[in-house]
Amino acid sequence: MARNIVLIGMPASGKSSVGKVLAKKTGFDFVDTDALIESRENRKISDIFAEEGEPYFRNLEVEVTKELSEKENQIISTGGGLVMNPLNVENLRKNGMLIFLDRDVTHLIPTADRPLGDTTEKMQNLYKERFPVYKKAADRTVKVHGTIEETAEDVWEALNEVE
Ligand code: S3P
Repeated sequence: MARNIVLIGMPASGKSSVGKVLAKKTGFDFVDTDALIESRENRKISDIFAEEGEPYFRNLEVEVTKELSEKENQIISTGGGLVMNPLNVENLRKNGMLIFLDRDVTHLIPTADRPLGDTTEKMQNLYKERFPVYKKAADRTVKVHGTIEETAEDVWEALNEVE
């Protein structure tokens, strides 16, 4: 088994919820890149975007990804835009298996705390633009259609197929 399991995909696709279930199942540590960045910066992602701009946030993602890829036995839930940077994909792949959680775009509900995903239109555009990148970066794609537990089970099966 790869040393880390990395969940990639759109905002609101269930990466963090599914990741927590997988962490319980495997005994791996659960890490959420957004939560890590927020705790280091001591402010919300939406405030980081508003106060510093997106490039600043993307640099933090690079730093955090590099650090995490040097550790093992983690379930890593990534921010939706993190794998748009090929450097992050390269680092994550060093000792991680990447799983794309593909949830139908009509089920990606925009929320106000997501600066790039706070309207349906933004979500749809992001999905179109990013879908091929998620597909290419992933070792496996898992369609999200059931409960969080069912999706975690599907991820588990996909991982076992890869091994
Ligand atoms: C982003 C997704 C967010 C967060 C930031 C940027 C994106 O994470 O990293 O707001 O570019 O799609 P979630 O995917 O957890 O919402």
